Amino acid sequence: MGKDYKIAVIPGDGTGPEVISEGLKVLGASAEKYGFKYEKVNYDIGGERFLKTGETLPDSVLKELESFDAIYLGAIGDPRVKPGILEKGILLRLRFELDQYINLRPVKLYDARFCPLKNKTAEDIDFVVIRENTEGLYCGSGGFLRKGTKNEVAVQESINTYKGVERCSKFAFEYARKRGKNKEVMLCGKTNVLTFAFDLWERVFNKTAKLYPDIKTRYAHVDATCMWMVKDPSWFDVIVTDNLFGDIITDLAAMIQGGMGIAAGGNINPEGVSMFEPIGGSAPKYTGKNVINPLAAICALGMLLDSLGEDKASEGIEKSVIKVVREKLTSLSAGKMGYSTSEVGDLVVKNL
Ligand code: IPM
Ligand code: MN
Repeated sequence: MGKDYKIAVIPGDGTGPEVISEGLKVLGASAEKYGFKYEKVNYDIGGERFLKTGETLPDSVLKELESFDAIYLGAIGDPRVKPGILEKGILLRLRFELDQYINLRPVKLYDARFCPLKNKTAEDIDFVVIRENTEGLYCGSGGFLRKGTKNEVAVQESINTYKGVERCSKFAFEYARKRGKNKEVMLCGKTNVLTFAFDLWERVFNKTAKLYPDIKTRYAHVDATCMWMVKDPSWFDVIVTDNLFGDIITDLAAMIQGGMGIAAGGNINPEGVSMFEPIGGSAPKYTGKNVINPLAAICALGMLLDSLGEDKASEGIEKSVIKVVREKLTSLSAGKMGYSTSEVGDLVVKNL
């Protein structure tokens, strides 16, 4: 008798609803094939609701979300709304309030044809970025002085706590052990300039490493990390870093795995409710055209099922995605796949 899951669905803005609907097709087919049940509840959070009611994420919705087994999110961001309002009011608020302190971003090249780097094969690009997801420059600490004058001062502070760095480091070491590739964790920082924040990171990281004698450690500055990601990404296994560096390097990482059309991520609270999303955003210019690549959302669904313990289903979805990417698609980019959004969803279902 399979389990029964409660999944909250937030299709969100732009192309979010289109890609989520393909993900839900795959969810339905996986449930049948792998023998589990689920109930889903839809939440109309996003730009449209904000423009109508002025609400971003109502407290009542946040409270309800705590009772789910997982959250499946499309995209948040609307060009009609001033930057920051939806991002901070919805996406970041969800991450913070649900204490999803890990942002997990697997980076895997499924087909060498779609890598912008020369002579790289699927074996060369297979690593994971573990981004701290509740602290750093994302906390919103700081403010203005004398705003609007020529003497204006803007301060934005990076908050780094022992507890935050420790739990993130622990997650990274556990992950490297479970993953079993090179059994290595690399700290990505900037110890040569950010001598407070990354001093704490380095000390806590090294202290945590002592609890994992079977896992090797490495360190690279964030700029060098970017350089290696282009020069020789086979160098990486598990990378752990702070919130902003993690944000930046995972966009670069997404490009070398084939682009935003395939890049998925999880906002994880190992002790609570986690949320899974394609990392590409709302892509306003492709909205409603049935051309956006739904594979990132489908891969995010695979991660969601894995987090619920449905690893067979998750593996099945990944295999199917790989098959579709290798045997069917002419590109991973919107409008160039050789198939429409819904056709790609259908192909993944068919190959399950
Ligand atoms: C991401 C996005 C968000 C972030 C934005 C939309 C706030 O870029 O998930 O990487 O910066 O974390
Ligand atoms: Mn980002």
